[in-house]
Amino acid sequence: MKSQARSIAVNLARACLSAAATLLLAFAAGPVAAQSGATYIGEKACINCHGQENRHFGETLHAKIFRMNPKNEAERQVCEACHGPGSLHAKNTADKNLIIGFTKRWNTPVETQNGQCLNCHSGGNRLHWPGSVHSTNKLGCADCHNPMEKISATSLEARQSISETCYQCHQQQRAEFRKRSHMPVPEGKMSCVDCHNPHGTPTKPLLKADSVNEVCYTCHAERRGPFVWEHAPVRENCLNCHTPHGSNHDKLLVSARPLLCQQCHDPRGFHPATFYNASGTAQAALAGGAAGPRVIGRSCQNCHSQIHGSNHPAGTRFQR
Ligand code: HEC
Ligand code: HEC
Ligand code: HEC
Ligand code: HEC
Ligand code: HEC
Ligand code: HEC
Ligand code: HEC
Ligand code: HEC
Ligand code: HEC
Ligand code: HEC
Repeated sequence: MKSQARSIAVNLARACLSAAATLLLAFAAGPVAAQSGATYIGEKACINCHGQENRHFGETLHAKIFRMNPKNEAERQVCEACHGPGSLHAKNTADKNLIIGFTKRWNTPVETQNGQCLNCHSGGNRLHWPGSVHSTNKLGCADCHNPMEKISATSLEARQSISETCYQCHQQQRAEFRKRSHMPVPEGKMSCVDCHNPHGTPTKPLLKADSVNEVCYTCHAERRGPFVWEHAPVRENCLNCHTPHGSNHDKLLVSARPLLCQQCHDPRGFHPATFYNASGTAQAALAGGAAGPRVIGRSCQNCHSQIHGSNHPAGTRFQR
C-alpha cells in the first residue's frame, strides 16, 4: 500500500514536471506565428483560400461549438484556435514557419502541434499524457485524431474505428485479435479503450486500472472474489493463464490443457491413484492418440472445475 502511494506520488510529481516541460517547450517553440508577430485574421480569410477543407470541417463538433456557441476568445478564433494566428501565412503561403500545420509534410515540431490542442484539452483523460509512452515516442494528437473531418462516429478519430486507428501502428495486435479465441473487439462489442487509455496512465502498458486484474474485474466482476479457497495464480495475475487479446487455444488460454496446469503442477508430484501415468501428461496429450481420457477436453477441469476459486466448504481442490 505504502509503495503504491509512493509510486502515485512519484507519478504525480513526474506528470507535473513533464507538464511544466511541455508548457515550456510549447512556449519556447511556438506558437510559431506569435514569435514572428502574426495577428488573427478570422476564419473568413482562411476559407477564401481553403474552401475545400472547410466543407468537411463544418461537420465536426469543433466547428459547431466554435461557431454557434463559443465559450471564450480562443474558441471564437475557429481555424486559428488550432493553427495559430495566420496574418503572415496569408501573405506568404509558401513559408512553412508562418502557420502551425499538423500534417507530416508541413513539419511543425510535434510539441508545438500538441501544445495547441492541450491549450484546451490538458488534464482529465490527458492528465498522464506528459511522459507517457506515446508522448515520448513523439506521437502527435493528429496521429490518432483528424479534426478536419468527421471520419468516425465519435472522438474525431483518424480512422473509422478506434481499433483501425490503433492498427495503423500496432499490426501485431491486429493479428492477435484474429486468432481463434479473442476478446470481442473485431465484433465491435468492446474496443482498445475499454482496457487502455492511449493518452497515458500510471500503469504499464497504458492500462486503465491499477493492475491487469483490476482491468479484468471491470467486466468479469464474478472473478474478483474473495473466495474461501483462492487459487494463487488467479489472484496474482489473470495473464498467468490468459492472453488479453487473442489466442489459438480455447478461452484465450496461453497454452493447451493439461500443459497449462502442468507448467506449475509437476506431473511427478503427488496425485491420487495413477493419474499421472504416461498417458496423463501434457506430452501424451500433445502427441495425440495416446492421451488418457482424463486429460482430453476440459482435462484437469473435468475434476477441478472451479479453477478461479471456490466458495464450497470442501472446495480446497477446486472440485466444487
Ligand atoms: C491567400 C490564400 C491563403 C490564405 C488566406 C490562407 N491560406 Fe493556408 N495555405 C494556402 C496555401 C496555398 C497553402 C499550401 C502551401 C504549400 O503547399 O506550400 C496553405 C497551407 C496551409 C496549411 C498547411 C497545410 C498542410 O499541408 O499541413 C494550413 C494549416 C493552413 N494553410 C491554414 C490556414 C489558416 C488557418 C488560414 C487562416 C488564418 C489560412 N491558411 C489562410 C493559402 C492560404
Ligand atoms: C480543432 C483544431 C483544428 C481546427 C479548429 C481547424 N483545424 Fe485544420 N487541421 C487540424 C489538424 C489536426 C490537421 C491535420 C489533419 C490530418 O492529419 O490530415 C489539420 C489540417 C488542415 C489543413 C491541411 C489539409 C488537410 O485537410 O489535412 C488545412 C489547409 C487546414 N487544416 C485548414 C483549416 C481551416 C481553414 C480551418 C477553419 C475553417 C481549420 N483548419 C480548423 C486541426 C484544426
Ligand atoms: C479552443 C479550444 C480547443 C482547441 C484548441 C482544441 N479543442 Fe478539441 N474540443 C474543444 C471543445 C470545446 C470540444 C467539445 C467537447 C468538450 O467540451 O470537451 C472539443 C472536443 C474534442 C474532441 C471530441 C470530439 C467528439 O466528437 O467527441 C476531440 C477528439 C478533440 N476535441 C481533439 C482535439 C485536438 C486533436 C485538437 C488539436 C488539433 C483540439 N481538439 C483542439 C476545444 C478545443
Ligand atoms: C494513440 C492514439 C491517440 C493519441 C496520440 C491521442 N488520442 Fe485522443 N483519443 C484517442 C481515442 C481512441 C479516443 C476515444 C476514447 C474514448 O472513446 O473513450 C480519444 C479521445 C479524445 C478526446 C475526447 C474524449 C476525452 O478523452 O475527453 C479528446 C478531447 C482527445 N482525445 C484529445 C487528444 C489530445 C489533445 C491529444 C494530444 C495531446 C490526443 N487526444 C492524442 C486516441 C488518441
Ligand atoms: C502513430 C503510431 C501509433 C498509433 C496510431 C498508436 N500507437 Fe500505441 N504505440 C506507438 C509506439 C511508437 C509505442 C511505443 C513503442 C512500442 O512499444 O511499440 C506504442 C506503445 C503502445 C502501448 C504499450 C505501452 C507500453 O507501456 O509498453 C500500448 C498499450 C499502446 N501503444 C496502445 C495503443 C492504442 C490503444 C492505440 C489506439 C488508440 C495506439 N496505441 C495507437 C505508436 C502508436
Ligand atoms: C480486454 C482488455 C484489453 C483490450 C480490449 C485490449 N488490450 Fe491491449 N493489453 C491488455 C493487457 C492486460 C496488456 C498487458 C499484456 C502484458 O502485460 O503482457 C495489453 C498489452 C498491449 C500492448 C503492449 C504489447 C503487448 O502485447 O504486451 C499493446 C501495444 C496493446 N495492448 C494494444 C492494444 C490495442 C491496439 C488494442 C485494440 C485493438 C488493445 N490493446 C485491446 C488488455 C487489453
Ligand atoms: C470491457 C469489458 C471486458 C473487459 C475489461 C475484459 N473482458 Fe473478457 N470478455 C468480455 C466479453 C464481452 C467477452 C465475450 C463474452 C461472450 O462472448 O459471451 C469476454 C470473454 C472473455 C473470455 C472467454 C473467451 C472465450 O473464447 O470464450 C476470457 C477468458 C476473458 N474474457 C478474460 C478476460 C481477461 C483475462 C481480462 C483482463 C485482461 C478481460 N477478460 C477483460 C468483456 C471484457
Ligand atoms: C490458473 C489458470 C487461470 C487463471 C490464473 C485465470 N483463469 Fe480464467 N480460465 C482458466 C481456464 C482453464 C478457463 C477455461 C474454463 C473452462 O473450460 O471451464 C478459464 C475461463 C475463463 C473465462 C471464460 C469463462 C467461461 O465459462 O466461458 C473467463 C471470463 C475468465 N477465465 C476470466 C479470468 C479472469 C478475469 C482471471 C483473473 C482474475 C482469470 N480468468 C484467471 C484458467 C485461468
Ligand atoms: C502459474 C502457476 C499455476 C498454474 C498455471 C496453475 N496453478 Fe494450480 N496452483 C498454483 C499454486 C501456486 C497453488 C497453491 C499451492 C499451495 O498452496 O501449496 C495452486 C493450487 C492448486 C490446487 C490446490 C492444491 C493445493 O495443494 O491446495 C489445485 C487443485 C490446482 N492448483 C489445480 C490447477 C489446475 C487444474 C490448473 C490448470 C487449469 C492449475 N492449477 C494451474 C499454481 C498454478
Ligand atoms: C479424475 C479426476 C481428476 C483429474 C482429471 C485431475 N485431478 Fe487433480 N485431484 C483429484 C483428486 C480427487 C485430488 C485429491 C483431492 C483431495 O485430496 O482432497 C486431486 C488433487 C490435486 C492436487 C493437489 C495435490 C496435493 O498435493 O494435495 C493438484 C495440484 C491437482 N490435483 C492437480 C491436477 C492437475 C494439474 C490435473 C490435470 C493434469 C488434475 N489434477 C487432474 C482428481 C483429479
